[in-house]
Amino acid sequence: MGLKRKTADLKKRMREAVKGGGSQAIKKQKAIGKKTARERILSILDPKSFHEYDMFVEHSGKDFDMDKKFLPGDGVITGTGTIMSHPVCIYAQDFTVAGGSLGWAHAKKITKIMDHAMKLKIPIIGINDSGGARIQEGVNALAGYGEIFYRNTRASGVIPQLSVILGPCAGGAVYSPALTDFVFVVDQVSKMFITGPEVIKTVLGEEISMEELGGARVHSEITGNAHFYADSEEECFGQIKELISYIPWNNERKAATFPKKPPKARLFNIDEVIPADPRQPYDVRHVIRSISDDSEFFEVQELFAANIVIGFARIAGQTAGFVANQPLVLAGVLDVDSSDKAGRFIRYCDSFNIPLVTLVDLPGYLPGIDQEHAGVIRHGAKMLYAYSEATVPKITVIMRKAYGGGYIAMCSHHLRADFVCAWPTAEIAVMGPEGAANIIFRNEIKNSENPDETRKQKIKEYKEKFANPYVAAAYGYIDAVIEPKETRSFLIHALEISSQKSETGPQRKHGIPPF
Ligand code: HXC
Repeated sequence: MGLKRKTADLKKRMREAVKGGGSQAIKKQKAIGKKTARERILSILDPKSFHEYDMFVEHSGKDFDMDKKFLPGDGVITGTGTIMSHPVCIYAQDFTVAGGSLGWAHAKKITKIMDHAMKLKIPIIGINDSGGARIQEGVNALAGYGEIFYRNTRASGVIPQLSVILGPCAGGAVYSPALTDFVFVVDQVSKMFITGPEVIKTVLGEEISMEELGGARVHSEITGNAHFYADSEEECFGQIKELISYIPWNNERKAATFPKKPPKARLFNIDEVIPADPRQPYDVRHVIRSISDDSEFFEVQELFAANIVIGFARIAGQTAGFVANQPLVLAGVLDVDSSDKAGRFIRYCDSFNIPLVTLVDLPGYLPGIDQEHAGVIRHGAKMLYAYSEATVPKITVIMRKAYGGGYIAMCSHHLRADFVCAWPTAEIAVMGPEGAANIIFRNEIKNSENPDETRKQKIKEYKEKFANPYVAAAYGYIDAVIEPKETRSFLIHALEISSQKSETGPQRKHGIPPF
């Protein structure tokens, strides 16, 4: 066969592979608002940058007539490309081919591209759309998942791992995403569960739809398994690109820098964000936008545990990870979910050389039987652990309340913040004036002629003594008291002078965080 005929043969084979599960299956996919696996990859990557690997891999299943079936690419497309010139490895499961189910050859394609990402030290993006372990391949399918989970764990904290859930993902298809850094979901398209509605009905007799069991909203608002929620696949791809712009390629690099841009002062004026009454709530995201470049803020897990806000913004062109109490929700308390959310984010930033900016305004940890029984001791400790362990530059701004355990947990000097400043509105104390006066002056109040008047007087005395930043400043627990409008320049300076920060911990295999 001459070159011409061989080339024609290659093109024919490629055309066959590109057909995936065929026009009927593709039609079904499109009818429910889903793109094909190949379209998804091409939508995420820079034009003409995709290089496909292993297009001609064939499955190795023999049982249940599988040896008579042709599964193009064994139901997964893998390769490399760029996103805004940042290199990435990528794979997308093709639901039109045997439901994107994972057989041995399918798994080998994925593990090969994961190994490639680790070797090249670049991010890996996995687009999951799969019925889980391919039932016909039995233990070989389970072995394939085991190999993926092992690699997810080895790659954790070395290269960024992004999981995109774009279909019904069951069984093993959700455990790999759970081991990765960020999970993206799309309304009505994404479903995640270990056992689906059918199994639940058979085993427990309970009926529930796929959407109610593990839809995008459920995982964004209730379980916290998802980090980014979108209304459409297009919006989701935009979020992936934005995230890639904020994070470095691997744990040995820093995130790319951008030209410095001032905040949009007319829209977000820091002096107008915080209300005069210390009990009035406000949206802490406005504070972030009043100090970030171009007032941009890329929020992570926006819908989950909204009493804490986490996400990325740039300060003078450099990525920073923000952790901020949100007074709009539950007065910004720390609880089981918010501690879990923030603790993990802090560890992410620390792994990938992203400085941490902590904005403090909270009355402490949330009291309650529910919280105690849900393990607030263990989960709350995650914040203490994550901040203490982190060696990236840590900058803390105490805006208003910093009471009790909340003061310590929100990156105080005691957990080794590098810079702690407070606004004149800061109140740093063991608890709020009302609670404190009722406890320490209980007898005096009870035995006085006018208990209400005495209580008021004692609250006032306590406020004057402790509800300010100056007691903490006198002990050196905060480095400076600054006006709110000086916050951005304080942060720019702190980030500039800590750019060479390097700290090593004690020699050990690894710590044992309160998982
Ligand atoms: C083989 C599978 C499959 C699987 C789907 N298909 N899942 N083939 N192994 N696991 C095939 C179907 O037979 C069908 O083939 C095609 O994919 C499309 O599936 P449908 O059921 O028609 O699609 P839909 O109605 O959209 O339902 C999608 C689904 C459902 C919810 C994912 O297919 C489902 O429940 N699948 C099984 C899920 C599951 O229990 N997986 C095993 C998990 S155990 P045809 O030829 O008809 O088009 C596991 C172990 C790992 O993963 C554990 C790690 C800890």
